[in-house]
Amino acid sequence: MILKRLVTSSVGRKTIVAVTGLLLILFILVHMLGNWNMFLGPDAMNSYAAKLQSLGGLLWIARIGLIVIFLLHVFFTIQLNIENKQARPIPYKKKDYVRATLTSRTMAVSGLLILAFVIYHLLHYTLGVVQPETFKAKLTDAQGRPDVYMMVIYGFRNPIISLSYIIAMLLLAMHLDHAVQSVFQTLGWTTKNIFPKLIRFSRAFAIFIFIGYTLIPLSILLGIIK
Ligand code: HEM
Repeated sequence: MILKRLVTSSVGRKTIVAVTGLLLILFILVHMLGNWNMFLGPDAMNSYAAKLQSLGGLLWIARIGLIVIFLLHVFFTIQLNIENKQARPIPYKKKDYVRATLTSRTMAVSGLLILAFVIYHLLHYTLGVVQPETFKAKLTDAQGRPDVYMMVIYGFRNPIISLSYIIAMLLLAMHLDHAVQSVFQTLGWTTKNIFPKLIRFSRAFAIFIFIGYTLIPLSILLGIIK
């Protein structure tokens, strides 16, 4: 009953987009912290990756959960967009861009490009289709574990791959700049007084994520991580 109301009302659909968005933001944060093992060296990175793999069934539950969350997020965003367009088939003559920021106006574009990036990223580091010769299944470290550390290094030594990741991180940061504050607003976790602070927090978080992820390809390109 609650589920039906959630899916059929526009407020319910907005809530689904916000909650799934929040879960994706948490994943993005945790994944970045995990990737920082690259700065601690091959042993740290490979034992982190091996620990994740050893979760077995749990890892698969998390993966399927993530896919479902992602699909719900994309599906209901598209549906809300279509509804908004149908509610106003004739576009505004003069668009009021004074309050709408660049990042809020480009959410659909940045979101779809992030989707394309995630597909490419899975083909690269999870399935080994992009660079099969340096995929983790083919590389093992001194302890016989899949050498995820070297796989990431080989990947980002290629400037075109690094650049494409950095561009994707920029799009991710643009998406987060609006998304974080939007989640808080939709879930009613803000007031008029703290709203300006929320906008600043959202921007700071987006920049933090951009720098946090981009440091990895940059450090590899500059030879800081070898
Ligand atoms: C510099 C940036 C990034 C690096 C170095 C990186 C690294 C990796 C690596 C090495 C894996 C494979 C882990 C393994 O199977 O052992 C992976 C998987 C994954 N990454 Fe990233 N990643 C980056 C950015 C991102 C971003 C921005 C997102 C999401 C928007 C993302 C989403 C994922 C997902 C969904 C998986 C699949 C997880 C799984 O197989 O269970 N990654 N990443």
